[in-house]
Amino acid sequence: MDLKGRSLLSLEDFTADEIRFLLDESKRLKADFKAYKRTKPLSGLTLGMIFQKRSTRTRVSTEVAMYNLGGHAIFLSSADIQLGAGESIKDTSRVLARMVNGILARVYAHEDVAELAKHSTVPVINALSDKYHPLQILADLLTIEEHKGKLAGLKLAWVGDGNNVCNSLLIGCAKMGLNMSVATPKGYEPPSDIVGNAEHYAEETGAEITITNDAIAAVTNADVVVTDTFISMGEEKEAAAKLKAFENYVITEELCANAKSDYLFMHCLPYKHKEATEEVFESGNSVVFDEAENRLHTVMAVLNALMGS
Ligand code: CP
Ligand code: NVA
Repeated sequence: MDLKGRSLLSLEDFTADEIRFLLDESKRLKADFKAYKRTKPLSGLTLGMIFQKRSTRTRVSTEVAMYNLGGHAIFLSSADIQLGAGESIKDTSRVLARMVNGILARVYAHEDVAELAKHSTVPVINALSDKYHPLQILADLLTIEEHKGKLAGLKLAWVGDGNNVCNSLLIGCAKMGLNMSVATPKGYEPPSDIVGNAEHYAEETGAEITITNDAIAAVTNADVVVTDTFISMGEEKEAAAKLKAFENYVITEELCANAKSDYLFMHCLPYKHKEATEEVFESGNSVVFDEAENRLHTVMAVLNALMGS
């Protein structure tokens, strides 16, 4: 399958077959660790990485992935490049595209990464925006498949904020045939246009998408229970109000007793200690560090597919 030159702003940009290809490629690269180091498929290629927000996993996985594939990554903190001092996204994109072979960007407003892609002649990869986090969901799907042996037909429960990670999971689950139940406090549901898109994809795969305010209903019989911080980067001013609103949406052992006994607990990290108890986070059901490791294997597949030959 040829994905060369394509951008990844959202999983909506890729068909179920293309997502399947990226997951299979991730498995191949993970299993054949020595082969890609030998062949260096991105030899001579560079990736510019713009970060407007902090990052541990996304930055490290991508830099290591470029190194492993024989290429080079350039970390561009927005505080240090002219973008942070008034140069436009449009000009930044047109300049970078003349020098690098791919651009990865973590931004506040999703429109900014879309604007980068609009003016770039090289692939642009969304490394998290206020709307989506597609790279995370590829790692999540790989982790679920590794532990459960399949994706389609499983039930995934999201309890917490209807945020960027939730949005991308909705699209990924719908496209890959996982049933997804989202439980949020009133007023924190995922945006209706994204739910509508997920429902549209779900019609093709038979996945069931449920949006509720009832955490127990969402978790009942779930194979996978997922959450994320209640306060995303950029929402710091809303912290007090959100923590209050989310009081009854903490992932506890009591809540998870409603899930299947072999449920997986997942969290994209960083864990902020409010959204799930330590007991759940450290339990035998928790696969959060497998999930974190898979950020490396999946981003390697993405970079190789979009930038390689
Ligand atoms: N999950 C994730 O994207 O982590 P970072 O913010 O550390 O990149
Ligand atoms: N929803 C979180 C994810 C962090 C990886 C945020 O946007 O800050």
